Amino acid sequence: QCILPVRIWVFNCLLDIAQILKLRTLLNCAEVCCTWKAIIQSGTLWSQINFSVEKDWITDGTMKQILQNYRPFVIHLNLRGCTFLKWPSECKNIQDLNLSECFNVTDMMVQRIVEGCPCLLYLNLSCTLITNKTLRELSRNCLNLQYLSLAYCYRFTDKGFMYLTTGNGCHNLVHLNLSGCTQMTVNGFRYISAGCPSLKEIVINDMPTLSDSCVLALIARCQCLSVVSLLDAPHISDVALKAIAEVAKLKTFRTQGEICYSIIYTSTERTEVILFHLCCLMTDASLKSVAKLKNLHNLDISLCNKVSDTGIQYLTEGSSSTKLRELNVSYCSLITDTSVMRIAQRLCKLYHLNLSYCERLTDMSLEWVSGSSICSLDISGCNIQDQGLASLQGIFLKKLVLAGCVSVTDVGMEKLCKTVRDLEHVDVSHCGALSDSAIRAVSFYCRGLVTLRMSGCPKMTDMAVQYLTSGSQYLRELDVSGCVLLTDRSLRRLERVCPPLGSISMVCCSSISKVAALKLRPHVKHWEHSNDNPPYWFGYNMGQIVSPVTRPIKTDDTKWRISSQC
Ligand SMILES: *[C@@H]1O[C@H](CO)[C@@H](O)[C@H](O)[C@H]1NC(C)=O
Ligand SMILES: *[C@@H]1O[C@H](CO)[C@@H](O)[C@H](O)[C@H]1NC(C)=O
Ligand SMILES: *[C@@H]1O[C@H](CO)[C@@H](O)[C@H](O)[C@H]1NC(C)=O
Ligand SMILES: *[C@@H]1O[C@H](CO)[C@@H](O)[C@H](O)[C@H]1NC(C)=O
Ligand SMILES: *[C@@H]1O[C@H](CO)[C@@H](O)[C@H](O)[C@H]1NC(C)=O
Ligand SMILES: *[C@@H]1O[C@H](CO)[C@@H](O)[C@H](O)[C@H]1NC(C)=O
Ligand SMILES: *[C@@H]1O[C@H](CO)[C@@H](O)[C@H](O)[C@H]1NC(C)=O
Ligand SMILES: *[C@@H]1O[C@H](CO)[C@@H](O)[C@H](O)[C@H]1NC(C)=O
Repeated sequence: QCILPVRIWVFNCLLDIAQILKLRTLLNCAEVCCTWKAIIQSGTLWSQINFSVEKDWITDGTMKQILQNYRPFVIHLNLRGCTFLKWPSECKNIQDLNLSECFNVTDMMVQRIVEGCPCLLYLNLSCTLITNKTLRELSRNCLNLQYLSLAYCYRFTDKGFMYLTTGNGCHNLVHLNLSGCTQMTVNGFRYISAGCPSLKEIVINDMPTLSDSCVLALIARCQCLSVVSLLDAPHISDVALKAIAEVAKLKTFRTQGEICYSIIYTSTERTEVILFHLCCLMTDASLKSVAKLKNLHNLDISLCNKVSDTGIQYLTEGSSSTKLRELNVSYCSLITDTSVMRIAQRLCKLYHLNLSYCERLTDMSLEWVSGSSICSLDISGCNIQDQGLASLQGIFLKKLVLAGCVSVTDVGMEKLCKTVRDLEHVDVSHCGALSDSAIRAVSFYCRGLVTLRMSGCPKMTDMAVQYLTSGSQYLRELDVSGCVLLTDRSLRRLERVCPPLGSISMVCCSSISKVAALKLRPHVKHWEHSNDNPPYWFGYNMGQIVSPVTRPIKTDDTKWRISSQC
């Protein structure tokens, strides 16, 4: 039956099927008949081999056989965790080889492998027992190597990298992962700097031994670096941070307090600096060096509560004062209205300002913000009163987040909306004093309203929804969670404005029936509803016994924990 010709489409079809089969099935199929064997022997099936998945059953004999038979086709080979390894004499088209966790790999084997694989681009040797000799072989044979992982290899020393500076070297290396190589000292980084001028990305995570001098030695000559990952390097200080910042042409600098890392982007290509534990160190002095960056477009120092008005002053007088578009200083509890004044006056291109939970800010801040370039403002959890809202003017504000501003009343909202009519996104969640009149004002004056969040406003009634559905013809997103007085009547009105309304959240709306809520569901893309009583943190005092179901967003454990650490 082997001679029977197979139509080409049948062949292709079987080939497609073969492509999704597991290696073991594939090998069994090859024994069915000649046609199947021919299909399975076609090269395309063998360009990527993953022995890692098969390592529990495959024998060295089978593996060797497969590599022997198909070696001209193999391009990607994953041997991760295969503790045995038999290498055929040559596999010269391999570009991508993963030997990580192959504990039996010796320097001798690596030597044989790299001598036979001149095209190698990616080599993963993480968690192996290779030593200096492997580095010597790489330097002799792997001229094209671009990606190398030596993470968690403890047996080589600084000297190993000396080989990279001599001989042919690995001058094309672009990515190097040295995570966990705690044996490395400043000398090793000096060699890398000299031997790998094209290095763009270096991963040196999980290195408690890493010092500033290592980082300085590295960047001395690696001027193309655009990604530096330093997770869990607790001894890195401002000095290294500053140096890294100077090497890269930075566009974004971001320290995210919550998980303590910073990311830097360049204008031409992505530059990333990930610095764990630095947020806790972010001080006015570090902001001074950040302020020297020339292309800073976006700065996020939320939760860096050591930063004070002095730090903000450096920033506003720094090289990027006319470039900065977004600034997040939320939870920076030391900064005062003075900083807001400097921000509003000097950062003339600022588009987005996040001042949420800056506890010291008062109504004065909103006066300073008046007349500025800011289009999007978050003052959640600030001590803002009606007077502050009334003073906002001369500003094309499109987005305003006032969540948790508990002192704000309908009067303030009305004054605000009368003057700031461009608002499209309004968030008054947990502004417990607001009632229907506030919504009337928003919907009457701000004709372009697209998003409204008023969750946790217990005074809202069906009237509020009526104002919205008759006045806000562009409304797409509405959150009325915890508006316990809303009834099914509101839902009938909302149904009439779908579309544009496409997103509705009605969690903890105890007076809206499931039946009515479900009726609305087919008309919207996003839908949420529950009849639960609002959780205690909504702060309602309605005599209901409520169970603590959800944690408050604003008092999220991790945030508080981190901010008290910092
Ligand atoms: C190979 O198999 C391993 C183990 O199942 C898996 O983690 C890995 O993602 C696979 N790699 C490729 C390139 O398919
Ligand atoms: C092994 O390394 C290759 C690159 O060499 C990669 O494509 C693959 O995802 C890695 N496999 C793992 C993590 O098992
Ligand atoms: C190298 O192998 C390790 C697993 O040992 C894996 O975590 C890592 O992602 C691999 N690198 C690449 C680029 O696949
Ligand atoms: C691989 O190494 C383990 C210990 O690391 C050893 O027990 C085993 O015999 C080695 N296997 C081969 C084939 O060398
Ligand atoms: C690596 O090089 C250093 C310095 O030359 C040497 O002391 C060490 O013994 C070498 N290690 C191995 C395993 O060759
Ligand atoms: C660096 O190597 C470690 C260990 O193999 C791996 O878990 C990590 O994902 C790698 N990091 C990058 C950015 O490749
Ligand atoms: C800071 O604010 C910006 C814009 O307001 C936002 O994109 C970013 O996620 C915020 N940072 C954190 C840590 O939430
Ligand atoms: C302001 O920053 C906080 C993080 O502190 C974030 O949760 C919030 O979403 C940001 N506001 C806006 C409007 O992006």
